[in-house]
Amino acid sequence: MKIPHSFIEEVKYRNRIDDVIGSYVNLKRAGSNYQGLCPFHSEKTPSFTVFPNTETFHCFGCGAGGDVISFVMRAENLEYMGAIEFLAKRAGLAMPDTGEHENESDKRTRFYEMNRAAARFFNQMLHTPEAEPARAYLAKRGLTAAAVKRFGLGYAPDRFDALRKHMHSLGYTDEELKTAFLCGKSERTGNYFDYFRGRVMFPIIDNFSNVVAFGGRILGDAKPKYLNSSDTPVFKKSRNLFALNFARKASAESLILCEGYMDVIAVNMAGFPNAVATLGTALTTEQARIMAKYTKKVILAYDSDDAGVNAAKRAIPMLTEVGLEVKMLRLEGAKDPDEFIKKYGATRFKTLLDDSQGKMDYLCEQVLKKYNILLPEEKTKAADELCRVLSEVYSDVEREIYITRMAEKLSVDPKSMKNDVERQMRRNRRDETAEMRRRIVSDTLGYGDRVNRDFVKNAKAARAEEAILGILLLRPELVREIRSGQISLSAEDFLTDFNKKVFCAILDGDDPFDIGTLAETFTLDEISRITKMQVSRASLSKNDASVLSDHIRTLKAEAPREASEDDLADIRSLLDRKKK
Ligand code: CTP
Ligand code: MN
Repeated sequence: MKIPHSFIEEVKYRNRIDDVIGSYVNLKRAGSNYQGLCPFHSEKTPSFTVFPNTETFHCFGCGAGGDVISFVMRAENLEYMGAIEFLAKRAGLAMPDTGEHENESDKRTRFYEMNRAAARFFNQMLHTPEAEPARAYLAKRGLTAAAVKRFGLGYAPDRFDALRKHMHSLGYTDEELKTAFLCGKSERTGNYFDYFRGRVMFPIIDNFSNVVAFGGRILGDAKPKYLNSSDTPVFKKSRNLFALNFARKASAESLILCEGYMDVIAVNMAGFPNAVATLGTALTTEQARIMAKYTKKVILAYDSDDAGVNAAKRAIPMLTEVGLEVKMLRLEGAKDPDEFIKKYGATRFKTLLDDSQGKMDYLCEQVLKKYNILLPEEKTKAADELCRVLSEVYSDVEREIYITRMAEKLSVDPKSMKNDVERQMRRNRRDETAEMRRRIVSDTLGYGDRVNRDFVKNAKAARAEEAILGILLLRPELVREIRSGQISLSAEDFLTDFNKKVFCAILDGDDPFDIGTLAETFTLDEISRITKMQVSRASLSKNDASVLSDHIRTLKAEAPREASEDDLADIRSLLDRKKK
């Protein structure tokens, strides 16, 4: 059973959108709306708008949009039910009892309990005779009993059905185990088997102390070295960080971002609980944004090898974009923080943290390291690359300082270096504008449209559909007229699948329709698109039955088509024209 709509209405009524968003974004009144800097992309002039009348928000820059529920989903990194619970709590409302049937929140609870039971099992297994090699391994890596306890580490036996049998005894089914990536299923035989075998297990814990996933390290040198749970309905690895549950409570002034589980644990054991790591993937913007919620400064403690340096170079702009100050740990004489602490101890690691380097110094140093600047040709290349690095510095003063310093290093005239940097800055701006224009053109054309894949094929129909849906979202009485047959329009009239799906959702939805209920079945990107349809119509003065029937007529006159060579030629010429 679902949460009753009346409850969602109550939650939304008690959480006014401008009020909720106002606690994340500094909003300024603009007519009947509010504007501020978008929390979902980096911008310096506000294009993020809150519309109290329709209870929606929309960013004219990045396209993010939705209602207060999807806002909270984005901002707090929550799923639909989680966001409703969050808002209910904020307004002091108790979640309704939805009866005996399993609801979304029960399903999640069961999932969390299943993962917790698995974590407990792994932990218990660590103390059995068959885990002797695992204990020896942990000892060799210097993982103490205290570390095992703090991080809830465990051991997955090297058997195919150890966990599976145990979980069956607790009433979990193979299907359930499979959705949690605790079991796999053989394509050939159809048999289920333990996903993690013969590995040290690292539970991943979310902000609400739920076990949501696992990482497992093989004891020896076999491949893959680490195995991680894939995404599940309640776990997205791009939105979680290892040990954030500890780090966010550490109330340190910075977070230490490491590459691996072992590093985080070693850093913790050295006395710094403010360490986190990504979960076997490169840093994502979402993770950067999450860190920015807890701190102003991130110390990057990636491995000192090429892979680590490259990962750092990619992470720096992401962290900077979300407003974080970035410092670099200068690891010397060790490949990663784990090894450094083992070799030199906690005190020297503390010195390393205190002496961490500014990101500009780091980036410049990386360039200078690469070239032999005594050779004119290499010196030119170094200068060129440095100009590119310096052209990204936002503050004039800071840029000036680095130009002077780098010109001195290369023994060239700072004035010429400044000229080159400024030329590069103009080039960057041009590229940015071109990129923005490309985005706008492809947006309006639906070219490469990820949300509505049929847009290009049926552009005229799709535009009419969007107008129709936008009007329906603003005018509930017209939805009623469609339901009663006074206005003739049915799902079959829609040519693009996405818009058809939206139309059905509106028609089958509550009266008046609430964009918030979309979050159950649509992705946040899809909701953004739907909100945009509404926002685009709201800015027009006329949205009545006659405008609606005009668009319906246009739609009905269109027949479904495959994209032809002609369409593609059209698009190309339009792109060319827009470019000029
Ligand atoms: N990783 C992974 N899959 C692999 C290798 C690495 O998911 N096959 C992830 C793990 O999260 C790991 C991180 O990348 O913690 C860093 O990798 P690496 O530097 O190889 O691991 P270390 O943490 O140094 O692990 P160890 O010290 O156990 O070798
Ligand atoms: Mn490493």
